[in-house]
Amino acid sequence: MPSEDAAPRLDVDQILADPGVRIVVCCGAGGVGKTTTAAALALRAAERHGRRTVVLTIDPARRLAQSLGLSELDNTPRQVKGIDVEAVGGELHAMMLDMKRTFDDVVLQHTDPAKAAEIFANPFYQAMSSTFAGTQEYMAMEKLGQLHARGEWDLIVVDTPPSRSALDFLDAPARLSRFLDGRMLRLLLAPDRSGGRSMFSFVTASFGMFSKVVQKVIGAQLLTDLSGFVAALDSMFGGFRQRAEQTYRILQARETAFLLVAAPEPDAVREAAYFAGRLREENMPLAGLVLNRVHEPAAAGLDAAESLAAAERLDGLGDHEAVAEALRAHAELMQLAAREQRVAARFTEAFPAVPAVSVTAQPADVHDVDGLRTIGAAISRP
Ligand SMILES: Nc1ncnc2c1ncn2[C@@H]1O[C@H](COP(=O)(O)OP(=O)(O)O)[C@@H](O)[C@H]1O
Ligand SMILES: [Mg+2]
Repeated sequence: MPSEDAAPRLDVDQILADPGVRIVVCCGAGGVGKTTTAAALALRAAERHGRRTVVLTIDPARRLAQSLGLSELDNTPRQVKGIDVEAVGGELHAMMLDMKRTFDDVVLQHTDPAKAAEIFANPFYQAMSSTFAGTQEYMAMEKLGQLHARGEWDLIVVDTPPSRSALDFLDAPARLSRFLDGRMLRLLLAPDRSGGRSMFSFVTASFGMFSKVVQKVIGAQLLTDLSGFVAALDSMFGGFRQRAEQTYRILQARETAFLLVAAPEPDAVREAAYFAGRLREENMPLAGLVLNRVHEPAAAGLDAAESLAAAERLDGLGDHEAVAEALRAHAELMQLAAREQRVAARFTEAFPAVPAVSVTAQPADVHDVDGLRTIGAAISRP
């Protein structure tokens, strides 16, 4: 229902075709379609706009990963074969982030092999590289920085981790920065000193889990391991932090476009609005909102009340059950669509200038290239 307060329309093709846009980040709450949207946009950038594109996925559904030629966690981009790029000459490459291996690679790049082997064998490192809260966010940032630095792609489309809080991705550089400061690790070596904990606001969230991991493997051996670990990583701290901060600045630059993905549900829309506020605070360029999995009744001209009334009249006539059922189903869909519009309107009221687009809920999950193409077309529909 077009009205004066409707959001401006998001033109995704304009973004994908713009040679000045080098990074598209899809973010939002878990389960709303971030990975699907990222893959669909990357495919469209390659097929329609001839761009050499790489999509960095974090947690693709298995069937989707398989259809992109990703059979296992693989930390380097693989070219996706069998897509339709003849007309424009684009390319699509895809990868799934392997958090642990990205961490290992960073260590390998910054130390000699003997030292690296020592670090890998350290139980503390093993615990941290695979379980420390936020590691996935750090490593997504790290990987994005690496891909960007290689300069091989016209466009990098980034999926974001299925964090409980959609903000984790944005917080990664700052938290990493503080964490890698070393004070965190030193704090661990001398825990429970008065005032120690309150020095770090993030300690409450991350520290609990971190120290639990440490306690699990605690012992005299651990302390030795830990000092060795701290000493070994100490030399790398600077590099880690510097790169995270560099990536953070890239995310603020004009070459980046953030897309919020939300489902037309209260939680997802609330998360999207919160995220839009954060992006604004961080001076990060928000390009628009993709409202995914919306319901659109086939016969929008027939409103819910009319079709319910018609169904009731048919009930009295006998032999018209199927039609009455269809009318009721239609009424339900109209009511659902109206509810979804009201939920979406909350975002638009708060951020009236942010362009938006709706993508219809498909009858089935999206797990192959054809399905991605359909989503890409739906996002770009004029
Ligand atoms: N427009 C859509 N219509 C139907 N199913 C969709 C749509 N978008 C996403 N899906 C499905 O929803 C599920 C979650 O999508 P996914 O992209 O993995 O979400 P996220 O990455 O945000 O967790 C997947 O099974 C996907 O195929
Ligand atoms: Mg996902």
